[in-house]
Amino acid sequence: MKTAYIETYGCQMNEYDSEIVRAILEADGYEFLDSPDCASIILINTCSVRENAHQRVFRRIADIKILKTEDPSRVLGVIGCMAQNLKEELLDEGIGVDIIAGPDTYKKLPEQIRKFRTTGKKSYELSLSRTETYSDVFPVRDNGVNAWIAVMRGCNNICSFCIVPYTRGRERSRDPEGIVDEARSLADFGFQQVTLLGQNVNSYRYESFDFADLINAVSEVDGIKRIRFTSPHPKDFPEKLIEVIRDNPKACKHVHLPLQAGNDRVLEMMNRTYTRKRFIDLAQNLRSEIPGIALTTDIIVGFPTETEDEFLETLEVMKEVEFDSAFMFKYSVRKNTAAQRKYPDDVSEEDKTSRITRIVDQQRKIAYQRNQKHLGEIFEVLIEGYGKKPKQLLGRNDANKIVVFPDNGLSIGDMVNVRIDEVTPNTLIGTAI
Ligand code: SAH
Ligand code: SF4
Ligand code: F3S
Repeated sequence: MKTAYIETYGCQMNEYDSEIVRAILEADGYEFLDSPDCASIILINTCSVRENAHQRVFRRIADIKILKTEDPSRVLGVIGCMAQNLKEELLDEGIGVDIIAGPDTYKKLPEQIRKFRTTGKKSYELSLSRTETYSDVFPVRDNGVNAWIAVMRGCNNICSFCIVPYTRGRERSRDPEGIVDEARSLADFGFQQVTLLGQNVNSYRYESFDFADLINAVSEVDGIKRIRFTSPHPKDFPEKLIEVIRDNPKACKHVHLPLQAGNDRVLEMMNRTYTRKRFIDLAQNLRSEIPGIALTTDIIVGFPTETEDEFLETLEVMKEVEFDSAFMFKYSVRKNTAAQRKYPDDVSEEDKTSRITRIVDQQRKIAYQRNQKHLGEIFEVLIEGYGKKPKQLLGRNDANKIVVFPDNGLSIGDMVNVRIDEVTPNTLIGTAI
C-alpha cells in the first residue's frame, strides 16, 4: 500500500518543496492522503529558523510515534532544514525517526524509502548541492489562485544570526526558460498569480539575466495577472528593479524589506551589509517611485549585546518608514552560526519580552493608521478564499493587503473592485462594487 502524508512547517520555500516531494513520490506510485492516520509513509518537512520551530516539530514527532506503535510498518521521515541541522538528535533510537533527508536530496527519497523497507536500517541523505534546483520537477499543487515558483535556492549572505545558509547551502538560480514554462503551465491550470520564491530572491541571476528581467519575462505569460516575490534582501535593489516594479502592471506593488534592526552597530554585527540610513533611503525611494506601494518587514529584538538605546533606534526606524506590517521575533540563538560562536546571548528574556511587546504595540498602531488612509478607496481584489465570517469572501489587493467583503455571488479566482468601508490593523473591510 503506497500511501503518503506530508506536513509542512516554516517558510513558503518549504511549502513549495513539499509540493516537489509530492511530485517525486507520486511518480513513484504513492497516493497522498490528507491525514497521517492511514499513511504508510509520514513525512514532516521542518524549519530550523528559531528554537520554537524545533520544539513544535519534536512534539509532533512524539504524536506520530504513537501511530507507529500501532502499526510498526509505517515509515517516519524528517526532511527539510531541521533534518539538515539536527541529524544526530533525530536519529536517536528513542525518537522514532526512520529516514532523514535534507532540502537538496529529495530525488533520492523513493530509493531511500525502499532501502529502509528492505533492510530496516535508518538512513540520512544530507548533501548540499551547488546545482540542484529541481527545475525538472513540476510540483503537485492543490488547485488555487496563487502558485509558488522557486527561482533560486540557497543564500550567500551569512547574516550572523541565521541558520538558513547552513541548512540550504549556496545560492543557485534556475534557468529563466524553465521558470517561464512553469508559469505557462500554471496559467493553463487556471492559476492567476505566481509568487517567485528564493531565500534571497532578488539576487537571482542566470548568466546575464537578472531578477528584473525575470519579472518581465514571467509577465509575458498570458493568464498570469499578478506577480509577487519573496524574500528580497535590501542589498539587491538596483534602480532597474525598482523601475520594473513600478512600470510592469503585473508586478505587485508590495516589497518585503527585512530591516532586522535599526542601529548601525547591531546591523554590522548581524552582517546585514547596510546601515540604518541606507535602509531608510531605500524605503523612501521605493515609496516615492512607486505610489501606493506596501512595505513590510522582519525585525529581531534582543540580538546579543543590543542595549535599550539601540533597541529604541529600531522603534524609531519603524516609525519613520511606517511599515504596513511586520513579522517580529525575539533573537533565538542558533547552533554554529557566527552570532552563536562570537557573542553571548546576553539580553535577558525579560528585556526581549519588553522589547517585542513595545514594537508589536507600535506596529499595530502604525498599521491601523496606514489602513485608515484607505477608507473610501477602491481596490482591484483577486479573490482567494473565504473570510472568517459567514458569507464573506477574502482576497488581496495589488499591495498584498487582505480585503474581505460580503459574498455577492462571485467565485474564487475572480477579480473584483472593492470599496473600503472599514479597517483594522490587518484587514480592509469593504463592499464589492
Ligand atoms: N531569507 C529571508 C528570510 C529568512 S528567515 C530574508 O532574509 O528575509 C525569516 C526571518 O526570521 C528573518 O528575516 C529574521 O527576521 C528571522 N530570523 C532568522 N534567524 C533568526 C534568529 N536566529 N532569531 C530570531 N529571528 C530570526
Ligand atoms: Fe538568513 Fe540573511 Fe540569508 Fe535571509 S539573507 S536567509 S536572514 S542569511
Ligand atoms: Fe525555516 Fe528553512 Fe525556511 S529554516 S524559514 S524552512 S529556509
